Order: sequence, then structure tokens, then C-alpha cells
Amino acid sequence: MGEGSADGPVLIASNRGPVSFGLGDDGRLSARRGAGGLVSGLSSVTDHTSETLWVCAALSDADRAAVREAPDGRLDSDGTPGGSGVHMLDIPPAVFQRAYNAVANSTLWFVHHMLYDTPNQPHFGMAFDREWDSFRGYNRAFAEALAQDAGPAGQAGQAGQAGQAGRPARALIQDYHLTLAPRMLADLRPDVRIAHFSHTPWAPPAYYRMLPDPVAREVLDGVLGADHAGFLCQRWADAFLDCCEAVLGPVGARVDRVRQRVSYRGHVTGVGVHPLGVDAAELTARAAEPDVQARVASLAEATGDRKLIVRIDRTELSKNIVRGLAAYRELLIAYPQWRERVVHVAFAYPSRHDLPEYREYTARVQRLAREISEEFGTADWDPLILQVDDDYARSLAAYRLADVLLVNPIRDGMNLVAKEGPILSDRACALVLSREAGAAAELSADALMINPFDVSGTAQALHEALLMPDSERTRRARSLARAASAVPPATWFADQLAALDRLGG
Ligand code: F6P
Repeated sequence: MGEGSADGPVLIASNRGPVSFGLGDDGRLSARRGAGGLVSGLSSVTDHTSETLWVCAALSDADRAAVREAPDGRLDSDGTPGGSGVHMLDIPPAVFQRAYNAVANSTLWFVHHMLYDTPNQPHFGMAFDREWDSFRGYNRAFAEALAQDAGPAGQAGQAGQAGQAGRPARALIQDYHLTLAPRMLADLRPDVRIAHFSHTPWAPPAYYRMLPDPVAREVLDGVLGADHAGFLCQRWADAFLDCCEAVLGPVGARVDRVRQRVSYRGHVTGVGVHPLGVDAAELTARAAEPDVQARVASLAEATGDRKLIVRIDRTELSKNIVRGLAAYRELLIAYPQWRERVVHVAFAYPSRHDLPEYREYTARVQRLAREISEEFGTADWDPLILQVDDDYARSLAAYRLADVLLVNPIRDGMNLVAKEGPILSDRACALVLSREAGAAAELSADALMINPFDVSGTAQALHEALLMPDSERTRRARSLARAASAVPPATWFADQLAALDRLGG
């Protein structure tokens, strides 16, 4: 990436960073790659450059132990202490827990994905004040680190292996965890160019306004501290603009729909759509490695010549795994011709187990899977393979063998599974896709689109996908793979830097 060397330092900020640590029985720390879509997208950019500094939080006790051994929290992206690529922040555990679990994941995530069971939740009482204050503290820790890492104003930065005199630093702040940080950083360092990117959907005003009014204003004001606010599809960008109009309009914000920008408190924020896709060459090369080949062989042996309906998700409420399993059950009831001829492979790796809702959801998924196996299984046919542990190579193997890929989230920022599957499937898989996923904006022409709440409609789409003639599947899968790889992470990243440069004049 040339941008870093021509301009000032490029700083990335996200809750989860490119490296995390585990503590072995012998008390030794071991480094591994950070997990999740955001991290893998950004890592594929930063792995090829030494010109960025990634600011992230220590997420566990092992991370904290590693940070305390590293000078100023500096690490290499492989975890070596004293490197120059990563600045890991040791935020006090209680502050971190309240910011990450109570506010980011139990409040903002629920709002943007519209997950609340509204007769009972949300409940913004006195406890929330303390949680919100921790969220502010957590965002402030990032803003202060970024202000420091940007280096002296108008000069090469400390991060800045990359810096050049007179060029401003650029900070790319990621996701709902860090919605307050852009404003805080802008207040500390008006010279730094700031982008914020939302990897989630954005809620429509009627839902967003469940947040207490001051909080609703503070979140929008936080993002509007950035010079550029990026979203994964136009629908989420529009919802953000709608919220700015509804919540901040009465206190002076002006929303310009034509130029896609918001003026507020004397500052203009441009709004842009950057639909993150997949680096097809890199993914295909990874899926050809021996660990994946071995798993392809064992999955093929376990399933024989049956057709495979594959799904791969975090065990996440918004992924709608329970309705997906219910749809598979309806498929076997409504279209009994598929019995013994199909296997549903559902890989649902663990996520956010600190939250009771996620533990209960995982248990429901497992219960329903057991019921389906008991109801339909025969001596030599297990209709369902559910795995709830994380094995990336096994997920890639499942993509390769998929005849049908089921992606049915209630609501999703993008959903990279919908993009990875068609690129990797050796069998030119048919894609059954929720209209509520951001990926629908790019893939709907060649996917079988569903309403994720309509279980019978999903079963019908699975039936159609299984029946789709080979020639049509091949044509559609090629087109899906093309769309999925149109904006690989490096382009996505460069587009945001370019948007910042355009705004800077
Ligand atoms: O969708 C937003 C996101 O940050 C993804 O990039 C990532 O896969 C997921 O949420 C991570 O969640 P967590 O860090 O809580 O596991």
C-alpha cells in the first residue's frame, strides 16, 4: 500500500486487534491471530504493509499480561513485544467489561440489529449510567492513544515509519464499539483526518430512538466527529442519515441527501458506501492447503454422495440459526423426497459467551439440532452435522463441498459467508440469502432471496436450490463469485483513505 509512505501515518482502531494471546498450563503466553470478519479483512491489508499502526484493546487476562510485558503496549502483529504494528490498550477490566459487554454488545449491537424482545428490554435504569460512563472511558482511551500515535501535529508521526513532514495523520476508526472516539479524537487533534466505519447495520430512527435521548445524540455526535463515515451498503448509510435528521435535526444538524453529508457543530461529515468483499486469490489459495484438503476428505466420507446444505456462522442471535434449522426440518417434512439424500452441515462457532442470551441461544441451537437428528435420522443417515467449536480449515472445507449455502440473518451489516461460499464451492453452490443482509445489495440477482422470518418460505427456497439445474447453478455461482470479489479488502481500505483525502482538499 503506497498511501502510507506518501502521506502521514495511517492509524487503525478497533476493539479486537490482529493478535490475541492465550495462557498455557505452563503459564506461558502464546500469540494467535485475532478472530472475526473485521480482523480478517483488515489483516489482509496490514499484513502486506509495515505502514500502519493498529490500536486495539486487550480483551482477556492473557492479552493484559502480554501488554504488560511489551514496552508501551507495542507489539508486532505476530505478538512479538516491542514491535511497531500494534498498540494494545490495557483498559481496566471492569471498565472494559461494561463498555464491551453491557454497552457495545448488549445495547448498541441489539439496537442496530433490532434484536430486543421489547416488552422486556431494553431497560435503561440507573445501572446504565455507570455502563455508559465506562463506554465513554473506553472510547477516551482509544482517542488518547490515537492522538499520541498520530505524532506531533504537522510532522512525521511516532507510528510513522510512514510519516512525512506537513502531512496529516489519518485514523480509520472501526465499528459500534468506537462510535464516540471520532469526536473525542477530533477535539484532541483537529489536524488528524478521521474516518469511522460501521461493520453493522444502522437502525432506523423509530428503533434507534429507544436509546435514551442524550445517548442517542451522543452516539451520532461521536460519529460526526469524523470527516468521513463509511457503511457497508446504501441502506445502512440512509438509516444513519435518517437518524441524524430525526435526532440531531432539531438541534441544528443539516442533512444533505444529494451530496450524502451532514453538517453539524460547524463541521461537515461525508457519508460513503464501501461494500467490503473478499480477496478471491488469497482465499482460494488458503482453501487448497493440506489441512483443508484433509477436512474435505473426511467431510466427503461422512456425507457420501448426498447433497450438502451448508451454513457457517458465529453462534450469534442475529444469524437466525434456529429458524434456519426449523426451515430444514420443514424441508424434510414438506419435501420428503430429500430424506436420505441431503445432509445439513451447520458450523456455528462460539461467540460472546459472557452474555447469557448467547449461551441460551447456543443451547437452543443444539437442542433443535438433536431433535431433528432424532426425528429423521436412520441407521445410515444422519440428517444434520452441527459443530459448535471453531475450526477455520473445516469451515473452508464445508464451503468447498456445499451444494447449497444458507445465509439467513435477521439483519447483518454485510455477511462475508455469502461472499466466500460462491468463490470456494467446488460444486458451484446455490445461495439462499436473506434480504436483510447487507450482501443482498450486491448478490440478490443471482441468489434465491428469502424473508428470514418466513420459515416455510426458507424451506421452499432450499427445495428450489436443491433442484436447480447444474448449468444454472454454475452460471449464478460465477456471477456471485465475481460480485463477491469486486471490492477486496485492500481496495475497500484504499477507497476510505481516498475519501478522506478528497475531503481534505
Ligand atoms: O460485525 C461486526 C463485528 O465487529 C465483526 O467484524 C466481527 O466478526 C464481530 O462483530 C465480532 O464480534 P466480537 O468481537 O464481539 O466477537
